[in-house]
Amino acid sequence: MKVLFVNGSSHIHGTTMKALEEMIKIFEEEKIETEVIQLGGKPLADCTQCNSCQKTGQCVFKEDGVNEFVAKAREADGFVFATPVYFAHPSGRIFSFLDRAFYSNGKDEVYEAFQFKPGAAVAVARRGGTTAALDALNKYFGIAQMPVAGSTYWNMVHGLYAEEAPQDEEGMQTMRNLARNMVWMMRCFSEGKRNGVPYPQTETSACTNFIKRNDNKR
Ligand SMILES: Cc1cc2nc3c(=O)[nH]c(=O)nc-3n(C[C@H](O)[C@H](O)[C@H](O)COP(=O)(O)O)c2cc1C
Repeated sequence: MKVLFVNGSSHIHGTTMKALEEMIKIFEEEKIETEVIQLGGKPLADCTQCNSCQKTGQCVFKEDGVNEFVAKAREADGFVFATPVYFAHPSGRIFSFLDRAFYSNGKDEVYEAFQFKPGAAVAVARRGGTTAALDALNKYFGIAQMPVAGSTYWNMVHGLYAEEAPQDEEGMQTMRNLARNMVWMMRCFSEGKRNGVPYPQTETSACTNFIKRNDNKR
């Protein structure tokens, strides 16, 4: 079993990573494999909606690890998307990365690398904006049929710099409980699969947009 992390911080050893390390300790205790995709400080292209991925299944920007992440996602059993808070939202780089990963994997509204696998969002901040950042990251799980893992508080850790994160005792506890809950969910799903519990049949035939005239308008 494997959990794939995306660290949306430019700091490979920053506050966000301190929160993730607390989760990784639990996964290691439970013999669950982990891998952290570090977005780092390099420029990362946003999605341009060129739509070429809708034919090829691959993002046209091939240099920054999005396609490799989707390939790894196919083999993973759970996901943690983590971000520092920037002006009360997730970092621009995690948005760009996940938009392209999910858009290129989303054929006919089915995100087959991600669907039916648990996901958890983590937000790290000096002081405020964590719940807004969590809301934004949780949207990826909601559209991709991914059950969302919870903890004993919302998944946030406080600190301006990495060394402050361990002082957020409850934040660290929240990370440990989040990891334990993910382990439990992944094991339940794996047992269900082994025992022949069928996956839901997904309907995708209805796809509407909002440009139609309302004929009842006076
Ligand atoms: C551009 C920018 C905007 C920020 N906005 C917020 C904010 O809205 N709320 C907050 O509490 N901290 C904010 N911070 C502080 C970071 O969230 C905080 O330092 C965090 O620990 C950085 O995590 P990292 O070390 O993993 O990058 C901001 C930092 C930057 C660089």
